[in-house]
Amino acid sequence: MLDKFKREINYLRVSITDRCNLRCVYCMPKEGVSLIGHEDILSYEEMLRIIRIARKLGIVKVRVTGGEPLVRRGVTEFLAALGKLGLEDISLTTNGILLESLADPIRKAGVGRINVSLDSLDPARYARITRGGDLAAVLRGLEQADRAGFSPIKINVVTVKDFNDDEAIQFARLTMGKPYEIRFIELMPIGGKNDNADKYVSNDELMERIGRLGRLLPVESGKQEKNFRGPARRFRLEGARGVVGFISPISHNFCHACNRLRLTADGGLRACLMVDGEVDLKTPMRRGCTDEELELLIRQAIVSKPRGQHTDGSGEDCSRRKCAREMSTIGG
Ligand code: 5AD
Ligand code: SF4
Repeated sequence: MLDKFKREINYLRVSITDRCNLRCVYCMPKEGVSLIGHEDILSYEEMLRIIRIARKLGIVKVRVTGGEPLVRRGVTEFLAALGKLGLEDISLTTNGILLESLADPIRKAGVGRINVSLDSLDPARYARITRGGDLAAVLRGLEQADRAGFSPIKINVVTVKDFNDDEAIQFARLTMGKPYEIRFIELMPIGGKNDNADKYVSNDELMERIGRLGRLLPVESGKQEKNFRGPARRFRLEGARGVVGFISPISHNFCHACNRLRLTADGGLRACLMVDGEVDLKTPMRRGCTDEELELLIRQAIVSKPRGQHTDGSGEDCSRRKCAREMSTIGG
């Protein structure tokens, strides 16, 4: 379905839990976030119902996120049920901590592609950024994902100044030998207390540094990929097996091409990451609304999708807005 600005909305990101087994510095405060009560988290049945109806409105691609999606009990069964809804593409974003044991089952459940969030290749530093995460577990998870047949395997690197911005070269080098797609993501001002503008590094700066390693050849998306092309600008270092991509929400705003909706773990349908308005689906569902009523609410969320920032300077500048919800409840 098209929104007011003629953007085709065909992609839904579903956060199945706000819980996480890590506490990344840019995502959560040290003490953790106040968790959503269990009774307020949508059941898998409720999520599947919403997705089934959203599919009628043109959602063909679903990404499962968190928190950390793999910590929710029954996730493989949920993914298998999702696989039966006739969607064209099912993907998952994970921190990789539990991937070693779960790569095979989630692949079998019908997940085609995974993104692994990994912000440092140095064990001590990884533990610091994630407040205790075990890098070796993630690396084993990546190997297992490769063996399980996931392709592509994307690695999300959020660049945080003075934390990991000096590792861009090392990450880029990893693509020489491994078939990974490393995606550098600009840090966004998300979460109530996360005033992190001074920790921002632009992707242009990283590209320049990586460009010193070798020539960066632009990568064309395949035919299948083209339909769902995300906001990454992609390149291959000459001779590399993998790809480096740059996702630049701050420096190269892509709202004009935004095709997505987000379902929060507690049943809010959010049309824009950076604008806090949401359509509550949980309350009407629990009061027993019909599928038709639910469909109307989903339409309402699509119609209300804000325009965002445009290159001509018109529209709202979401890059300077702040999202008050914690990232862990939205899932990226
Ligand atoms: N800015 C940019 N990316 C973020 N992520 C989490 N918080 C932020 C932020 N403030 C990323 C995670 C994960 C994806 C879902 O979102 O690292 O890869
Ligand atoms: Fe967990 Fe992901 Fe947030 Fe890190 S970024 S604390 S892995 S939800």
